[in-house]
Amino acid sequence: MTGRLDGKVAMITGAGSGIGRAAAELFAAEGAAVAVLDLDGSAAEETVGKIEAEGGTALALAANVALAADVESAVARAARDLGRLDVLYNNAGVNSAGSVADATENDWDRCFAVNAKGTFLCSRAAVPYLEQGEGGAIVNQGSVAGLVAVPNFAAYCAAKGAVVALTRSMAIDLAGRRIRVNAICPGTIFTPLMEPMLRARGDGDLDAGLAKTVVKYPIGRLGTPAEIAHVALFLASDDASFLTGSIVTADGGMTAQ
Ligand SMILES: NC(=O)c1ccc[n+]([C@@H]2O[C@H](COP(=O)([O-])OP(=O)(O)OC[C@H]3O[C@@H](n4cnc5c(N)ncnc54)[C@H](O)[C@@H]3O)[C@@H](O)[C@H]2O)c1
Repeated sequence: MTGRLDGKVAMITGAGSGIGRAAAELFAAEGAAVAVLDLDGSAAEETVGKIEAEGGTALALAANVALAADVESAVARAARDLGRLDVLYNNAGVNSAGSVADATENDWDRCFAVNAKGTFLCSRAAVPYLEQGEGGAIVNQGSVAGLVAVPNFAAYCAAKGAVVALTRSMAIDLAGRRIRVNAICPGTIFTPLMEPMLRARGDGDLDAGLAKTVVKYPIGRLGTPAEIAHVALFLASDDASFLTGSIVTADGGMTAQ
């Protein structure tokens, strides 16, 4: 590892699983102290255990990104216990299946509460810390679903579209406060979030669902959590010092077609 986040403190939401966990482990290996936030406190503790086993520094925080009080106390605790805050990776997210004809009001509200409002609340709480010193970086987790339509994912597509628009808005509003804001739009990554969807796509057969999905990817396979974590590392690090307001697709060519 190259120490690209040496001396920095990063908070990653939804870091108890999937992409967030991979990013927490990578950021720690690159020298950051990592605040590992998740709704599932024991999953956050597990990620912290993995980082500490490799000699890294991490702090577990059980919090719901959709609740302002939870978020504000988690961000304040991260900055206090780890000494500062330089990077926020708004990764926590949920999806829900259903077209606009059959999605429930609850599907819509949950998708927006976690994906869109959670990004707003965490960013708002973090700005006073991120703007200190040399400035900071926010990485938002979008999705290809925020750029092109994914069939029968109406609420998720709309919420990720909101994350993409919010990223551009935050980038111009926070540039003068020395905070860069960029988004990643991953294609399908095999994580616990996607497994039920892939299984449903194969009428209960995971391999059939995977086969139906892979054909949409020119690169011929799905992505891995580590591949998205590396994009987040770039955007969070000083290597991306001239990037703000960028929407970076990491999708094996899916949206290039
Ligand atoms: N997996 C994919 O194919 C894919 C593709 C594009 C975008 N994404 C996005 O990447 C992000 C991570 O997805 P993943 O596949 O790693 O999912 P995952 O389900 O493996 O992990 C998501 C984590 O977020 C946590 N979480 C959920 N709601 C929360 C809340 N309200 N507050 C705090 N934590 C909460 C969960 O407990 C879980 O640990 C999400 O924003 C997702 O929409 C995933």
